[in-house]
Amino acid sequence: MKRTIIKSTGRYLPPRVVTNQDLTQWMETSEEWIRQRTGIEQRHWVPEEGGVGAADLGLEASKIALDRAGWKPEDIDLIIFATLSPDIFFPGSGCLLQHKLGLETTPALDIRQQCTGFFYGLSTADAYIKSGYANKILFVGSEVHSTGLDVSTRGRDVTVIFGDGAGAICMEGMETDKPVGIMAASLHCQGKHADALITEGPASRQNPRLTHEMLDEGRHYPKMDGRSVYKLALTRLPEVTYTTLEKAGLQIEDIDLFIPHQANMRINQGYQKALKVSEEKMYHNIQRYGNTTAGSIPIALDEALEKKIIGPSSTVLFAGLGAGVTWGALIYKFQD
Ligand code: UT7
Repeated sequence: MKRTIIKSTGRYLPPRVVTNQDLTQWMETSEEWIRQRTGIEQRHWVPEEGGVGAADLGLEASKIALDRAGWKPEDIDLIIFATLSPDIFFPGSGCLLQHKLGLETTPALDIRQQCTGFFYGLSTADAYIKSGYANKILFVGSEVHSTGLDVSTRGRDVTVIFGDGAGAICMEGMETDKPVGIMAASLHCQGKHADALITEGPASRQNPRLTHEMLDEGRHYPKMDGRSVYKLALTRLPEVTYTTLEKAGLQIEDIDLFIPHQANMRINQGYQKALKVSEEKMYHNIQRYGNTTAGSIPIALDEALEKKIIGPSSTVLFAGLGAGVTWGALIYKFQD
């Protein structure tokens, strides 16, 4: 049977570190408020003057993953690029990354599933691999939030939580009878909650797509009903964890590490409590990176592998919820 195997991972965080204290220069907030309500202590942002997009961060993460896989860019059959902060309105960041990798005609597709880009991306890769369309796939989750945030008191609820960063994963099909690789995945979307976390402009449903009025009102910045997203996460994450475990024929005890999307430390602590698992079984890095959306889980996975918290024969469960709203979970078992 064909299974989808993770060959390697890589991550890249831009070097500029913005601490909670730094944010207090630009808006009415405090180090304590941010830390207590979110767990975040610092985040990485691209240079303020611009010039660095999601494909640039994705390129750096991809180079590391490709090197670790022993792949040349030409070995890639398909690029899947997950981002809510594309370099430009179109073409997609996957096309830009393809060119930056020096490739000529390798296909690239962008997916716009925000914080659940990892789930939609890996499920897509799994389906392409199992159908025989592609055997070696590069997945990239990358965000440059900082150039699109309202760095004033008006936007403080959203701005303090987001960071820039990218993660990359090389995946390959492998014939085996062993239960390894992507074991099960669940994907969900509930578009009725689209307004709960939204950036309205530029918008094709308006003509012109961006007006001076929209800019004045800050409608090109993300807006969030934080409370309702928070409550949805605390309901949906445990729910999708159990349904995905059932699909894989596994129990909570079979999971060596849970890697939830890094949106808020309190959400992840609530998730841990709902699952009744020990703190050591949860991976957190939101303290250092904030919420890097499509980058969040690939970055965390890369770190957990590097720190050897997981390795050969580990079983990992990923879960996340974000704008859309979309949510999902995925279980992966590493080979012996
Ligand atoms: O990854 C995408 C999915 N997103 C999420 O999962 C985010 C889910 N939501 C959250 O993480 C939380 O709702 C937030 C961290 C965004 C906000 O925390 P909260 O505990 O829900 O605060 P709140 O929005 O209810 O605001 C409480 C108070 C308000 O003041 P009043 O009305 O009580 O006087 C806000 O104006 O905190 C104020 N506030 C701030 N104060 C200082 C909001 N943002 C800030 C801030 N600094 N940055």
